[in-house]
Amino acid sequence: MNDLEGKHIVLGLSGGIACYKAAELCRALIKEGATVQVVMTEAAQQFITPVTMQALSNRPVYDSQWDQREPNNMAHINLSRDADAIVIAPCSADFMAKLLHGRADDLLSLMCLARPIETVPLLLAPAMNREMWAHPATQRNLAQLSADGAHILGVGSGYQACGETGDGRMLEPDELLDDVIAFFQPKRFAGKRVLVTAGPTFEAIDPVRGITNLSSGKMGFAIARAAREAGAQVTLVAGPVSLPTPRGVTRIDVRSAREMLAATVPQAELADVFIATAAVADWRPANASDQKIKKDGSGDTPQLAFIENPDILATVAKSPRALSRELFCVGFAAESHDLEANAQAKRERKRVPLLVGNIGPATFGADDNALLLVDEKGTRAVPRASKLELARHLVADIASRLNRS
Ligand code: C5P
Repeated sequence: MNDLEGKHIVLGLSGGIACYKAAELCRALIKEGATVQVVMTEAAQQFITPVTMQALSNRPVYDSQWDQREPNNMAHINLSRDADAIVIAPCSADFMAKLLHGRADDLLSLMCLARPIETVPLLLAPAMNREMWAHPATQRNLAQLSADGAHILGVGSGYQACGETGDGRMLEPDELLDDVIAFFQPKRFAGKRVLVTAGPTFEAIDPVRGITNLSSGKMGFAIARAAREAGAQVTLVAGPVSLPTPRGVTRIDVRSAREMLAATVPQAELADVFIATAAVADWRPANASDQKIKKDGSGDTPQLAFIENPDILATVAKSPRALSRELFCVGFAAESHDLEANAQAKRERKRVPLLVGNIGPATFGADDNALLLVDEKGTRAVPRASKLELARHLVADIASRLNRS
């Protein structure tokens, strides 16, 4: 299912060069299932035409409070009443100042003022030059708008159209899309700190070779995203994978199991929930060579000996905070057969309250999966779905366990 299915978004554009990104945002919102009604200020129309926005949204654009298309001549009321959210992107410094003062001399500001404040959230994506962004007036306005109930989506940093470099760029359309999707997710993890391990580990044989596994990290990254969407502060300890960091998640990159352990243990001291999805290598070469092992022409092959890696989950699960349930630990088990029996045995061996089983070879690298939740009372199957949907399901399940205890 698309993440914005059934949602109606009013997309407001105020004047700024970032208007070109609003076209892409409009498409992205629609692709995720939303319907989009565009409202533009006069200044926005200096940067992008209503024709473009009408074509992309498949609806006529509104730009005037005197629009005679509305039978009651009250576009500002009618447009906001059935919106699930009003998203102003770009939101210029001038438009923020207007909102702050409750001014209403054009359709967009009038509509924002007239919106039912309890039921129609207002999301702002600021866009401006770095000096304008840093100006005390802008920062003061931001703080006040936030106190007045607006949801500020933040800004990007980097090269600006004016040629300067710094904070104040509008976020990219895909970042804004993720933020809008996250906005609508229930905040089941509000105030919680969540730690996730993800991906494979890489165990060096020599400086250019090593052993690893086929874990893609997708499930762990989806869980980190879902936990963040649910309002948690999330740290993701990631083995070597080439996945983008989910929005708002703090990522620590590691390579070997021992590096993962060293990064995870101190973070676990700060966390409320630890979810170990990483496919940690069980063994590592006992004597990794500092130099590349050379083929000497004799036909002899190197003899590799292995030693067992530390078990990160088991280590964390026996810490005092985990034993007292101040830290709730969740393990994963990728099995090739007898999922239920193996997963239950693993849960008991690792001494975790919840273990999530899945059929390993079928899930590596895939975008979907099916899960089996195993706790002391028994098992519950979660049917096949996208990894993000499963991650949200798991987050909801863990949150209800936290509330119960
Ligand atoms: O024993 P097995 O590798 O099947 O256990 C899987 C669970 O234990 C996963 O949650 C995995 O992240 C965790 N694990 C770990 N450190 C290891 C091995 C597994 O944290 N060395």
